[in-house]
Amino acid sequence: MRVLAILLVIGFAYGFDDVTVSEYLQNNGYTTLYSVLNTTGLTAALAGDGPFTIFAPTDAAFQALGTGPINDLVSNPDALKDVLLYHVIPEFLVVPMVSGSVAKTTLNGQDMTIGASGNSLVINNVSLVDPTNNDIIVNNGVVQPIDKVLLPPVMATNNIAQIILLDDTRFKDLFLALLLADLVKALETGEYTVFAPVDSAFAPFKDNLLDPSSPGAQTLYQEVLKYHVVPGARRANQLRDGQKLFTLHGLPLNVTVTTRGVLINNANVIDADLLATNGVVHAIDRLLVPSDLQTPTSG
Ligand SMILES: *[C@@H]1O[C@H](CO)[C@@H](O)[C@H](O)[C@H]1NC(C)=O
Ligand SMILES: *[C@@H]1O[C@H](CO)[C@@H](O)[C@H](O)[C@H]1NC(C)=O
Ligand SMILES: *[C@@H]1O[C@H](CO)[C@@H](O)[C@H](O)[C@H]1NC(C)=O
Repeated sequence: MRVLAILLVIGFAYGFDDVTVSEYLQNNGYTTLYSVLNTTGLTAALAGDGPFTIFAPTDAAFQALGTGPINDLVSNPDALKDVLLYHVIPEFLVVPMVSGSVAKTTLNGQDMTIGASGNSLVINNVSLVDPTNNDIIVNNGVVQPIDKVLLPPVMATNNIAQIILLDDTRFKDLFLALLLADLVKALETGEYTVFAPVDSAFAPFKDNLLDPSSPGAQTLYQEVLKYHVVPGARRANQLRDGQKLFTLHGLPLNVTVTTRGVLINNANVIDADLLATNGVVHAIDRLLVPSDLQTPTSG
């Protein structure tokens, strides 16, 4: 009833299917979506009053995600539920209601960005609502078929300094070096990308490290570490082959992107996208030494 009233108010000539969102998905080939909604007990919720707008990934969208990620999700019901709730907003939304770009809070509590795109919508800049099959109005909301599964943004809880400090298996030497260089505080605020060498990256330098109490040692530590810090947050997928990233030290880092992964100068990114409240950390397997400091640091 409520949806019909809204339809009358907005006065568009839509078709209307007198079933619930759940029933529509079940009867129209959304086999994977319906099955995972059912496993997590959400089909009942989506048969309720609404109104709901569900951005409904097709079976092909689930296939494109790959069996690995799907199995990971299915084996973790809480994560799966989170992902599914991220596809639903508690309101009635059809394509003509969006112009420009709007943020909407989904049922998992996180926002999605919905942008107008021709006769259609684009969600979070990644997933397109099917322009030939959208605005499917049912008796408790709207179904908007989409071509990709939406993944909720990962919420960061630690700043860069905390990520490095709290990881006591990989970044012990880096944290010590940051302490010696008096740079820990600097990484608690601002917005940076940090290429973080893991402990094994420090090993080749251990035998001839400059005595931290010797004159100029702190400056040297600072300059080497600042060569690992780039202003602004850059996720791995924002790095481009051939790009130069200007560092706080001054000299740039060379980015190489191959099918096997990302290189920063000659260091491999071995764990990308550790998200911080003030940027992003990428673990690398080598210490980066700026060319203007090669001699003193390598002994
Ligand atoms: C949905 O889940 C219930 C158990 O919770 C099961 O009995 C039913 O067969 C499932 N339906 C489909 C279509 O998978
Ligand atoms: C989406 O794309 C627009 C324009 O390209 C950009 O300004 C915006 O930051 C992007 N948003 C996200 C969430 O990536
Ligand atoms: C970065 O690439 C430039 C060429 O664009 C090269 O001259 C320079 O030596 C490279 N720097 C490092 C540290 O590999």
